[in-house]
Amino acid sequence: MEKSILITGGAGFIGSHVVRLFVKKYPSYRIINLDSLTYAGNLANLSDIEDEPNYHFAKVDIQDAGALERVFSEFLITDVIHLAAESHVDRSITDPLSFVKTNVFGTVNLLNAAKGFWKDLEGHLFYHISTDEVYGSLHDGGFFLETTPYDPQSPYSASKASSDHFVRAYANTYGLKTVISNCSNNYGPNQFPEKLIPLCIHNIKNEKPLPVYGKGENVRDWLYVEDHARAIDVIFHAGVINDTFNIGGFNEWKNIDIVRLLCQIMDRKLGREIGSSEKLITFVKDRAGHDLRYAIDATKIQRELGWEPSLTFEVGIEKTVDWYLGNEAWLNGVTSGDYQKYYAEHYG
Ligand code: NAD
Ligand code: DAU
Repeated sequence: MEKSILITGGAGFIGSHVVRLFVKKYPSYRIINLDSLTYAGNLANLSDIEDEPNYHFAKVDIQDAGALERVFSEFLITDVIHLAAESHVDRSITDPLSFVKTNVFGTVNLLNAAKGFWKDLEGHLFYHISTDEVYGSLHDGGFFLETTPYDPQSPYSASKASSDHFVRAYANTYGLKTVISNCSNNYGPNQFPEKLIPLCIHNIKNEKPLPVYGKGENVRDWLYVEDHARAIDVIFHAGVINDTFNIGGFNEWKNIDIVRLLCQIMDRKLGREIGSSEKLITFVKDRAGHDLRYAIDATKIQRELGWEPSLTFEVGIEKTVDWYLGNEAWLNGVTSGDYQKYYAEHYG
């Protein structure tokens, strides 16, 4: 095998798209999906590629240093693309310690495993996937650049910022070859319906309230998940070392406008009277410490690596709604069991 790439968090939302892209596009690479299968991990996301000869799955928690060492040795890992994380801001507010355990401690374990196994660090890449939330909240216009100082505001973003710092510290201290990318909000197939877009699609379908935090004025910059996976492919292969790239869609939306748009699209697709789903919109208590606006300046990756989003939001959001409506079994599967408990505790 040309490369043996460990992709962590491959059973999750973004990770499953990255695993699929690499397995299909690079048959000469061995792809090892390492995931502990938390509530957010779902092997059904990869059922179409699970029998491919270059795909392997290891059910491992990145908090388990011994198990990581065994995976590196068994599969002779040459590179890492690290996505495994606790990823939902609301959960980080009620349970910050889980975010420290996986996002900080787990990342350091993985760095140690890579450093220990590779010994000669030349020719191996540790690629860490991070978020624009590490830069904090924009209040007076402007965009996040790669040089924007870190200013994380939630326990989630604090844990991701910490993991980014550890990755850079391992590059500086031990000479590990690393790269980090910080991406804006992703949307698309396979996203767990605790995040705004799939939650609203699920609730509109079932005619349940659409909880909009505060006044719905907060702004996010949305990118179709397959475009993020393409950017990861481009960065991984660019030969850049100890560098950082911002990834974003140049696509800012207020939350309330996204929710209204979803109502209109779904009324049309479900043959309901246009405007009827908007009656489900319910303004609820704001998220604690809710960041006002995120917006990425993705000029560097565009200029230096030639990547840009391939889908407009209008096309991407239609595809996304179609996917959720066409994958009822997936949606029913992930919203059974613990989901009901989470939903009841979080939304009352
Ligand atoms: P997700 O919650 O959908 O998936 C996370 C995956 O990690 C799951 O499969 C889960 O089982 C696995 N995992 C969690 N804890 C683990 C542990 N201790 N050991 C092994 N596996 C574990 O998350 P996502 O939205 O796909 O995000 C993936 C990565 O991208 C995260 O690092 C996140 O911070 C980053 N990111 C996400 C977005 C976004 O909009 N979703 C944007 C930018 C960056
Ligand atoms: O910016 C990148 C980040 O985007 C990623 O790092 C995170 O992993 C990912 O979860 C996402 O974080 P957000 O907090 O922006 O995403 P979420 O879908 O949870 O919320 C989007 C916006 O919608 C945010 O302003 C909060 C609001 N919201 C969210 C939910 C779940 C609501 O108004 N109601 C809701 O029920």
